[in-house]
Amino acid sequence: MASIGRLSAMRIAMSYGPELSFLVLLRMLIGMYRPDIIDRESRVKPVTLSSLRSSYDFVIIGGGSAGSVLANRLSENKNWTVLLLEAGVDEPDMADVPIVFPVLQLTSVDWQFKTEPSNNYCKAMKAHACNWPRGKVLGGSSVLNAMLYIRGNRKDYDNWERMGNPGWDYESVLPYFKKSEDMRIEEYRDSPYHQTGGYLKVEHFKYHSTVTDYLITAGTEMGYKVLDVNGPTQTGFTYSHGTLKEGLRCSTAKAFLRTASERRNLHVSTRSMVEKILIRQDEHTKTAYGVQFRLGSVRKIVKANREVILSAGSVQSPQLLMLSGIGPRDHLQQLNVTVIHEAPGVGRNLQDHVAIGGLNYLITKPANVTDPETFTFNLIRTLNAHALNLFSQDRTGPMYGVTVADGMGFVNTKYANKSEDYPDIQLFLSSTADNTDGGLFGKRDCNLMDDFYGSMFENILYQDSYSIIPLLLRPRSRGYLKLRSKNINEPPIIVPNYFDDPHDLDVLAEGAKFIHEMSKTPTMKRLMARPNPNKLPGCSSHAYPSLDYWRCYARYYTMTIYHPCGTCKMGPSADKMAVVDARLRVHGVHGLRVIDASIMPTIVSGNTNAPTIMIAEKAADMINEDWKV
Ligand SMILES: Cc1cc2nc3c(=O)[nH]c(=O)nc-3n(C[C@H](O)[C@H](O)[C@H](O)COP(=O)(O)OP(=O)(O)OC[C@H]3O[C@@H](n4cnc5c(N)ncnc54)[C@H](O)[C@@H]3O)c2cc1C
Ligand SMILES: *[C@@H]1O[C@H](CO)[C@@H](O)[C@H](O)[C@H]1NC(C)=O
Ligand SMILES: *[C@@H]1O[C@H](CO)[C@@H](O)[C@H](O)[C@H]1NC(C)=O
Ligand SMILES: *[C@@H]1O[C@H](CO)[C@@H](O)[C@H](O)[C@H]1NC(C)=O
Ligand SMILES: *[C@@H]1O[C@H](CO)[C@@H](O)[C@H](O)[C@H]1NC(C)=O
Repeated sequence: MASIGRLSAMRIAMSYGPELSFLVLLRMLIGMYRPDIIDRESRVKPVTLSSLRSSYDFVIIGGGSAGSVLANRLSENKNWTVLLLEAGVDEPDMADVPIVFPVLQLTSVDWQFKTEPSNNYCKAMKAHACNWPRGKVLGGSSVLNAMLYIRGNRKDYDNWERMGNPGWDYESVLPYFKKSEDMRIEEYRDSPYHQTGGYLKVEHFKYHSTVTDYLITAGTEMGYKVLDVNGPTQTGFTYSHGTLKEGLRCSTAKAFLRTASERRNLHVSTRSMVEKILIRQDEHTKTAYGVQFRLGSVRKIVKANREVILSAGSVQSPQLLMLSGIGPRDHLQQLNVTVIHEAPGVGRNLQDHVAIGGLNYLITKPANVTDPETFTFNLIRTLNAHALNLFSQDRTGPMYGVTVADGMGFVNTKYANKSEDYPDIQLFLSSTADNTDGGLFGKRDCNLMDDFYGSMFENILYQDSYSIIPLLLRPRSRGYLKLRSKNINEPPIIVPNYFDDPHDLDVLAEGAKFIHEMSKTPTMKRLMARPNPNKLPGCSSHAYPSLDYWRCYARYYTMTIYHPCGTCKMGPSADKMAVVDARLRVHGVHGLRVIDASIMPTIVSGNTNAPTIMIAEKAADMINEDWKV
């Protein structure tokens, strides 16, 4: 086993050359043929240090999914000055190309966080640590994400309201989902659940592999409908909806910042690392009055006349609060951080969508297929000169696909109540698999050990396959984040506590079982779908197939779906663990709001980008209301 691990490590190292040259070529072709991607005119022009003012009405920390929306909406009011501080730089051109999605991780636009080692999950990963990518770039994680546009379930928001957050029920948040949206999928344009004309473009991916058609049909054979999962009901299957503009990534930087780049009352400062929120105290009140940040070697202080808005995301919003003296008292005292305001909930209540990776099925293509090269995604066959040509000349082809989730489904395990529309598992239908990407995407991004990859995938390399990822929609386990040190440049301690509640593992194993059943539908039988012949050595004491096997497997190939949230949760002041109120104001501190994915009291039943954008849209309206005289 060790030698086969070395073998795959060596093979991957050797193939790094050609892959790198593919990317270099792509970049060159974009420069030559795709001025629409270069988009020089409308890109954000960062403010220079010398034109930075000493104060602004609003200072926004973090130009990610939420921060970009806020910068746009608050600067609509010409009387207000707005400063957006972002640690990263502008989006790289390549990020526009959907197929490039997995390549962006572990580069300079990723903060490259890792979870603490565990013996209960991420056991197939080097040092038992899972990668936790987060965008360090204008547009934040919306530049690194898989572009999937999903709103979640009506009940998620009704529950938020029931937890003591007036105005967050589904009927109240739906207008804010719609406000951003420009629905470009023809059949949904007239739906009362959608809207046209907004900044955020929503389309189907321009390309999907043919195997996806089979997988969606298999979904119907399992008893599900094909429908708009962002419409009146969620349960069922669909080709993925993407935040896409003419097939290219539509990040929040593209949607909300480039469209406001001419506004003189909005300054965007990139490479600006915020170190601290400044808080003034007198006998009775604590008020945020500005921030301290570093731009290159220069340390600056800038004041906020009205509010400081923290939108640094679920990992760094709690980190910055704690470094500014807002957090659990004991923890801050241990690190000698002066406690300004005790807030025990900061960094707690961490929730994420956990999934099982590597559930591959081998197939045999029907003899009469017209597209044998692209029937499934295959790194060496699909990503070739022809694909580059189609992309640069015709604006079509596989470069427009997001192979990890060409389609998806929201399904019920035996633990869900089937008479309610509240599915407990989401499936990503992938036309790619760990063996067909040669280890260059999945293995690298997930931090898989060489031995694990070698023993599971090396002897089926590049054989036609698909895979399906099951994701637990509403985990019961809760993790936490803590400061590692007082130094902002040291990543926080991340403990997701996946499977801490055994029910989570039970539901997820049922998800794997569902996928196995799907492989036996008439449609998948036509492809002779069969599971990976290699079984995980660490789980060999369990029969295959069995729920016990999948429970065991999940603890090895644990996968984050990159949706951390809840670490600055919203709730009434009676709830001591609530960090912000229903207007997203930090309890006990004036002039400070947290607006990003961290405020979700419970994780939503779907991908978190669209919900985060909705949160920012709604918050911008609340800020407008609160400052109305
Ligand atoms: C690899 C990946 C795939 C994903 N796929 C999907 C998907 O397909 N669909 C979906 O809906 N969701 C997806 N998500 C999740 C989704 O993108 C996030 O939930 C969402 O972007 C979170 O938005 P946010 O505003 O909370 O944080 P972010 O967008 O992460 O923004 C935080 C910003 O703050 C900046 N920042 C942090 N600290 C500082 C500091 N100290 N000073 C200055 N700036 C700072 C960061 O650089 C970043 O730009 C994915 C995420 C990742 C990482
Ligand atoms: C901006 O200020 C002017 C002058 O005080 C006022 O008339 C106007 O209503 C303000 N605009 C907004 C959008 O608040
Ligand atoms: C905190 O301060 C005390 C006293 O100055 C010192 O002994 C201790 O090492 C400090 N702890 C940390 C974590 O910096
Ligand atoms: C291939 O053959 C199958 C079975 O005969 C048929 O259903 C299918 O439509 C054919 N596909 C193409 C692309 O001709
Ligand atoms: C399932 O949901 C229906 C409709 O809401 C409800 O009437 C029923 O009691 C639920 N069943 C269980 C077992 O919770």
